[in-house]
Amino acid sequence: MSLRSEIFDQPAAARHQLESSPAAIEALVAQLRAQPVRSVVLAARGTSDHAAIYAQYVLGVRNRLSAGLATPSVVSLYDGDPDVRGALVVGISQSGASPDIVGVVEAARRQGALTLAITNDPGSPLASASDHVIDLAAGPELAVAATKTYTTSLLAIARLSIALADGSPATPGTNVAASLAGIPEAIAAALTVEAEVEAIVAEVSAMDRCIVVGRGFEYATAREWALKLKELAQVFADPYSSADFLHGPIALVHPGIPVLVLAPSGATEAGQVELLRDLRVRGIDTVVVSDVPETRALGRWSLAIPAGVPEWLRPIVSIVPAQLFAYHLTLARGLDPEEPRYLSKVTRTT
Ligand code: F6R
Repeated sequence: MSLRSEIFDQPAAARHQLESSPAAIEALVAQLRAQPVRSVVLAARGTSDHAAIYAQYVLGVRNRLSAGLATPSVVSLYDGDPDVRGALVVGISQSGASPDIVGVVEAARRQGALTLAITNDPGSPLASASDHVIDLAAGPELAVAATKTYTTSLLAIARLSIALADGSPATPGTNVAASLAGIPEAIAAALTVEAEVEAIVAEVSAMDRCIVVGRGFEYATAREWALKLKELAQVFADPYSSADFLHGPIALVHPGIPVLVLAPSGATEAGQVELLRDLRVRGIDTVVVSDVPETRALGRWSLAIPAGVPEWLRPIVSIVPAQLFAYHLTLARGLDPEEPRYLSKVTRTT
């Protein structure tokens, strides 16, 4: 399978994820009901770390859980043992093989904390080290750049959030189930922009620097889009939460450095629209990803994502045109998306 075929495999991978590990999610939630936690610690690297950032927003907004990113080096390099008793500790790793991530989960388990692995390899060291395992069930991912394991990781996190919130008055259960079931189709709809992507990258293929901004749930998408641009297209892509961007890095904007803006409908929309207007006045080229036609019209270029996906689930869809963008920009820059420089599929950091 090539990278492009794995990108296009995502609707099927999402369908498989939606059917995967229901008993594990049920068992974890039952245990959490008996021993509630107030915080979640998330350990991950690379693309999986971006899934962890998504989890911070989802669990914080929907489940009132304070969710933070682990610091694996504290455990692996300094023999530190941060007190995670009373927290749920989650390792997210498509390979389940990175020793420092496994180390965080092992340390948590020694302390008696509840642990969960979200992985595409249920036979991996991470899975073995954890009390509960959600199998991504994305199928083999052979391309070095992770795509379908990212979207299925987000889906697994969304399912966990739904299961945790089930029965809570704050959650409108039936609509949520329907929205989740509609995700594979929404991903398929997002994949239809390939011709538009190719037209844009033909115009920007010379770019070797860019800024990527997204906020809230879409901060994870900004980070992931930038990583794909770096590792595949060798573009210096600098990702920001749009709020942080305004606190300093906006000083970097300059005609000739495109800004890629995730600006979908929802809580972040007004701020992103204001940013797009400012960038326009300053003569900055922008690529806008949005489900809102009026917002897309503010960009020099734009890519549509399907309307009707709830804001909190949308990152599972909005990354898809970004993956296509990185893939085609790689080709347009004369590089091989199957052979990203200096990288291999599994990176074992210790
Ligand atoms: C990026 C990519 C890497 C991996 C990272 C973590 O496209 O593939 O950043 O996501 O090496 O790997 P896992 O998830 O196996 O721990």
